[in-house]
Amino acid sequence: MKFFSSAIAAFAFAVSALAQIDVPGAVPKNPLEPLQHRLAYAGPTGMTVSWNTYAEIKKPEVHYGENVWDLSSVAYGSSNTYETSPTWANHVTIYGLKPDTTYYYTVSHTNCYNCSEIPAYTFTTARPRGDFTPYTAAVVIDMGVMGEFGESAASEADTGAFTASDSSTMQSLSQFRDGFELLLHPGDLAYADSWLTEYLHGYLNITLDEGVEMYNLLLNQFFDEMQPVTSVRPYMVGPGNHESNCDEGGKTYNGVTYDLSICPEGQRNFTYYKNYFSMPGEESGGVDNFWYSFDHGMVHYVMIDTETDLGNGLVGDDETASGEDMDSGPFGSYENEQIDWLENDLANVDRSLTPWVIVSGHRPWYASADNDSTCANCQTAFEPLLVKYNVDMVFYGHIHMYERNDPVAYGVVDPNGLNDPSAPMYILNGLGGHYHGTDDYSLPLTEYSRYLQNETYGWSRLTFHNCTHVTHDFIASANGTVLDSATLYKNHGCSTSSSSSTSITTTSNYTSNYTANSTVPSVATVTTNAAGITGVPSIMLAVTLVTVLIAFL
Ligand SMILES: [Fe+2]
Repeated sequence: MKFFSSAIAAFAFAVSALAQIDVPGAVPKNPLEPLQHRLAYAGPTGMTVSWNTYAEIKKPEVHYGENVWDLSSVAYGSSNTYETSPTWANHVTIYGLKPDTTYYYTVSHTNCYNCSEIPAYTFTTARPRGDFTPYTAAVVIDMGVMGEFGESAASEADTGAFTASDSSTMQSLSQFRDGFELLLHPGDLAYADSWLTEYLHGYLNITLDEGVEMYNLLLNQFFDEMQPVTSVRPYMVGPGNHESNCDEGGKTYNGVTYDLSICPEGQRNFTYYKNYFSMPGEESGGVDNFWYSFDHGMVHYVMIDTETDLGNGLVGDDETASGEDMDSGPFGSYENEQIDWLENDLANVDRSLTPWVIVSGHRPWYASADNDSTCANCQTAFEPLLVKYNVDMVFYGHIHMYERNDPVAYGVVDPNGLNDPSAPMYILNGLGGHYHGTDDYSLPLTEYSRYLQNETYGWSRLTFHNCTHVTHDFIASANGTVLDSATLYKNHGCSTSSSSSTSITTTSNYTSNYTANSTVPSVATVTTNAAGITGVPSIMLAVTLVTVLIAFL
């Protein structure tokens, strides 16, 4: 990590202003005011609505209906909090909804002051399995807080991958939210734990005791900023190391090691992460917010936990046994629960209904980076199952760069490339935009690397066109530009494909502008622009189209 960068100096300047501000952030005059609305799929016809309040609600309610003027249906849930948290997290799960249907909703104590419309949000339930209607999903990893104490302040000193006039990733996601139906965020969400790092390096003008409030300020700022997206789109999260523990295994500075004892109780062992979310672990036979799956139309999504519970004696980096004293996990009731669940989950996917299988986790194993950044235990734990069950695509982050890899299994590049491979395709995208900056890559790039850049933050847009084609785009947050685009063709044996043949084209030095509703391509394509690094030099030089006709059912 480029931690000792001038970005931190700028961050310090921004945070020095914090001393002038009461910590934590402003509490609304009405402590029951609903804040930070968050949605999550809860099984095929369920939706969980979560929000936070500064006072406890004994019996949280969600009022909902298909007509904004008739929110007469009511569902009830529960609230919970934890030591050191100033807020309560309220969770209400509604089951038995219609699939692929938009509902209006309000939550307990929603008020309307001087407004002309009912302040209702909307959610849309998952498309049923077997619905092959094209749609787009968004993926972001390693993001953190933007704004006064985050990236936009740092960028004023021209230190980060943003410039002062650029949009942040949060702003970009908000701007283009109508272009995607759900948002995946497998790990490193708010980076509230980074207060300790900043404090130890003298960049926070607070006392150590005020770390509790600083953590809460950053956490709540993040979820406040995310609300424009999370209030109207399912926000499906996974655990990352910055959800785990604020001392990250012990920080040594000026010869002093600050161990677990420096970490307040509410900042250990994924405490906020467990409290804030209600992912469909129960609905999918997984465990809480740690590993679970869900379906949306033609896609089966799987979230895995790369931090703990790797099974078969393998130790996750956030677990105490890793030697870093992270005091986190395990979360399964027995050692191999996650692995057993993953095998069972993948084995029972009906590919005739959900031909696409997308797996997301936090830590990577295929990356052009040093071995300290990659997770060998994760590869040992998960790769055999991902290969065995023909997973189509894997997303992960943790390393703050973007790298598109060709399909690869056990280190061997699939000879078919993007043309109906049997191995999973790996997308590393840790460029959500935390102010720590981007990470360095290692040369030479791996033999499976096809595009890499670490200069511009962004998010992933995944468009499922039909049973056989999915396009991955890297969207630059700063201006919405598509920096890299690749379409994967898989012959899933579907009978619903509309064409009898297609082709693969490869182009380079090409940049296209973002369009929220991309058209369905008749070809599988790879497009990159000159800003990145390609793992295949010939691709950089190519300006002609390479067309390969493929016959399939
Ligand atoms: Fe991470």
